[in-house]
Amino acid sequence: MSRIHILHENAAWLPPLAQAFDHHRLPWTEWFLDAGTFDLAAPPPHGVFYNRMSASSHTRGHRFSAELTAAVLAWLTRWGRRVVNGPGALDLEISKTRQYAALESHGVATPRTVLVAGREHVVAAALRHFAGQPVILKPNRGGKGLGVQLFASTDSLAAYLASDTYEAPVDGLHLLQEYVRAPRPFITRAEFVGGRYLYAVEVDTSDGFELCPADACAIGDANCPVGAAPREKFTIIDGIPVALRTRLERFLAAAGVEVAGIEFITDAAGRTLVYDVNTNTNYNPDAEARAGRTGTARSGPGAIAAFLGAELHRLRAAA
Ligand SMILES: Nc1ncnc2c1ncn2[C@@H]1O[C@H](COP(=O)(O)OP(=O)(O)O)[C@@H](O)[C@H]1O
Ligand SMILES: [Mg+2]
Repeated sequence: MSRIHILHENAAWLPPLAQAFDHHRLPWTEWFLDAGTFDLAAPPPHGVFYNRMSASSHTRGHRFSAELTAAVLAWLTRWGRRVVNGPGALDLEISKTRQYAALESHGVATPRTVLVAGREHVVAAALRHFAGQPVILKPNRGGKGLGVQLFASTDSLAAYLASDTYEAPVDGLHLLQEYVRAPRPFITRAEFVGGRYLYAVEVDTSDGFELCPADACAIGDANCPVGAAPREKFTIIDGIPVALRTRLERFLAAAGVEVAGIEFITDAAGRTLVYDVNTNTNYNPDAEARAGRTGTARSGPGAIAAFLGAELHRLRAAA
């Protein structure tokens, strides 16, 4: 019998989806892609395949999961299987450089970014392109904000690069990026399911750059100053500008991405810059509850279950 196959490598991110699939009585199974054997001459099982491989997989001890997923996706598509977030999505997931190229070609502005291969070239590149300005250093293959750092001066950047705490990007590629200063410490993350805008969530960045919305990533209130009222870190907002939304939907369609969370910042001058496309996205359950979306098709997991359920239904009707 055909079913939904979830390709992933992080069990902690699965429960909200599993719950939504079970709620809709959708048959599903998981493919945990850290190791395995695949006979490329044999047909894959039938069904709808949903790729949730994450750019940060290497940080969970799954160094080659993204490479394995690329190979498995090639096998699935060669056999004509329906893949949601197929090879085009994975290609973007693991490279911010490729994200920015695709975004810019659809009229979506991205922060000024310089690509640097080689630890020894980073300081010279910062001096040349961002002289005296604060700069963000981030890995080309990112995820969860790990390794994203703001340097106020080239001296502090140079000190980090010379130190033992320096961590090389997993693909060898550094990005130096203009620091986008928002008037308030917030970024916006717009969620798309089935290629269509679902909702946007505002994320409070006062505590730092690690912004994974999943419950499994929550670090508690340790950073909340004693006596201060705890702030809500994630808040669902009314909407995003229609022109931006339309451009992002076109960009996703052209890139073959059907599920995504796209992050942007609007600076004091009103420029909106998109800096991160997550094809493996998680949803914040508290924010969804406060917005009255829990358990409905207007929640992230609910929308994905409805979308994949409809795809499965279509597949079975055509069989
Ligand atoms: N150019 C930038 N200017 C200001 N803040 C940034 C910039 N790039 C990243 N950040 C902050 O760091 C966080 C993580 O960066 P991001 O590019 O999304 O990396 P990741 O792919 O690891 O999530 C962002 O959500 C944002 O808060
Ligand atoms: Mg991000």
